[in-house]
Amino acid sequence: MLRDRYDRKVTYLRVSVTERCNFRCRYCMAEKPFSWVPKENLLSYEELFSFIKIGIDNGIQKIRLTGGEPTTRENLDELIGMIHTYAPNVDIGLTTNGFLLPAQAEKLKCAGLRRVNISLDSLNRETLDYITQKDVLEQILTGIDAASDAGLSIKLNSVILRGINDHEIVPLFEYAKEIGAQIRYIEYMENSHAHETLQGLRSDEIIEVLGKSYPFIPIDRDESGPANLYETPDGYRFGTIEPHRHDFCATCDRLRLTAEGDLIGCLYFEGAKSIKEAIREGNIAKATQILEDVVFNKPEKNLWGIENIEISSRAFYRTGG
Ligand code: GTP
Ligand code: 5AD
Ligand code: SF4
Repeated sequence: MLRDRYDRKVTYLRVSVTERCNFRCRYCMAEKPFSWVPKENLLSYEELFSFIKIGIDNGIQKIRLTGGEPTTRENLDELIGMIHTYAPNVDIGLTTNGFLLPAQAEKLKCAGLRRVNISLDSLNRETLDYITQKDVLEQILTGIDAASDAGLSIKLNSVILRGINDHEIVPLFEYAKEIGAQIRYIEYMENSHAHETLQGLRSDEIIEVLGKSYPFIPIDRDESGPANLYETPDGYRFGTIEPHRHDFCATCDRLRLTAEGDLIGCLYFEGAKSIKEAIREGNIAKATQILEDVVFNKPEKNLWGIENIEISSRAFYRTGG
């Protein structure tokens, strides 16, 4: 079992399979990066799987594939299949923008995927085009239907931005409720790769808007998840993710691996250790040691403090959100 210096158990590994993305969301990758990581620097699926096996052998129970946009890497179902065959009880999830799900949902589910978290920031074609810098609404909605038809469990992620989509808090809620998906409103996390002028809404503002239309009460958080949860009288659950408050860091159970093989203890944290060399040498002991070190040195909390907002230079599309 992996434990950090604050005695938090680490059981959740987020694996970014690519930094590339087919969208240019203004809060994440506002502009195409100057250069992409060369292909030979990326870990192959076999190499990623070698490390994932070490994680599972040391107590990882939940794996989430992220990006960039993970579905843009070819044959993602192969990696899912490898993990699922090795450890059928490990919970495999995917965080995606949904654009390629019409073609891939069924295949990914058959390979062993259980859950998808899909980003959806607007139900208005022009607004979503503005945020993602691409005309994507229709295909994402088709992707959500495809995921649902394939039997995948679905969550929706919405980042609410002042003056851009803040009038859609209620329509997004209603859509999510109608399709039976939990929506989580994520506070915009300031970072140097985002469009400069963006301003996010705080979760208390979002909750206030929703409260004017629907009754709900706060409920206990899922064990170690980042979301604060709420429930309506008819049992629908939704959440807010509030990185500007640190309360979920106390129970944080996760590590992140980038597509290049950097292992990171916290979404914000700049420090990382590479497992690439150890994995390419086939040195399991060395890779295990690096895993234990990164877990032990996991920072106590992230740094998007409410009084003193730090602008992280770490790209979300590299760390996998
Ligand atoms: P499940 O609990 O497995 O459904 O997934 P998740 O909520 O961890 O994953 P998802 O990829 O959908 O993440 C939702 C949002 O939460 C993203 O914006 C993440 O950046 C944010 N988030 C996830 N983990 C952390 C974390 O450790 N720290 C902070 N600050 N934000 C996080
Ligand atoms: N702030 C908040 N959420 C972000 N995401 C990406 N960049 C940011 C940011 N700067 C979200 C995406 C996706 C999730 C993995 O991370 O909307 O749903
Ligand atoms: Fe791509 Fe997701 Fe970043 Fe948007 S938030 S640019 S979809 S990685």
